[in-house]
Amino acid sequence: MTESELIQAALAARVNAYAPYSGFQVGAALLYEDGSVFTGCNVENAAFGSTICAERTALVKAVSEGKREGLILLAVAGSGEEPCWPCGACRQMLFEFAPNLKILAISKNGTYETASLNTLLPHGFGPASL
Ligand code: THU
Repeated sequence: MTESELIQAALAARVNAYAPYSGFQVGAALLYEDGSVFTGCNVENAAFGSTICAERTALVKAVSEGKREGLILLAVAGSGEEPCWPCGACRQMLFEFAPNLKILAISKNGTYETASLNTLLPHGFGPASL
C-alpha cells in the first residue's frame, strides 16, 4: 500500500467520526509490515473526558485483534486547516508499539506533513523503561 492509499483510508475513516461536541472530525489509518491496515475515527462522549481519538481507536482495534508487531506507518486526517498531529495521549500509546513510527499528518484539504514519533515524543517512556 502506498502513502497515498493510506491517506485515502484515513480520509474514509474520518467520515465515521462521531464529533457532535467539537465538530472536529478525525480519521486514522495504521499500516503494518504485512500490508494489513486498521482504521479508526474519533468517538466523542457527553462526558467529554471519555472521548477517544481516532489514532487510539485504530490502535486498540489492532491490538484487540492480536496485532502487536510490525506497525510502520500512521496517517491522521483532521478536518482543520492545519495538519492533524497526534495528541500527547496518542503519542504515548503509539510509542508502546512503534517508537520510530512514521506519521503523516493531514489537513482538511489533503496536504500533509511527516515526522517520526520519536521526534514528537523524545525520551518517551516505553516497555524498556520499566
Ligand atoms: N482528536 C483526535 O481524534 N486525534 C488527534 O490527534 C487530536 C484530537 C479528536 C479528539 C476530539 O474528538 C476532537 O479531535 C477535538 O479535540
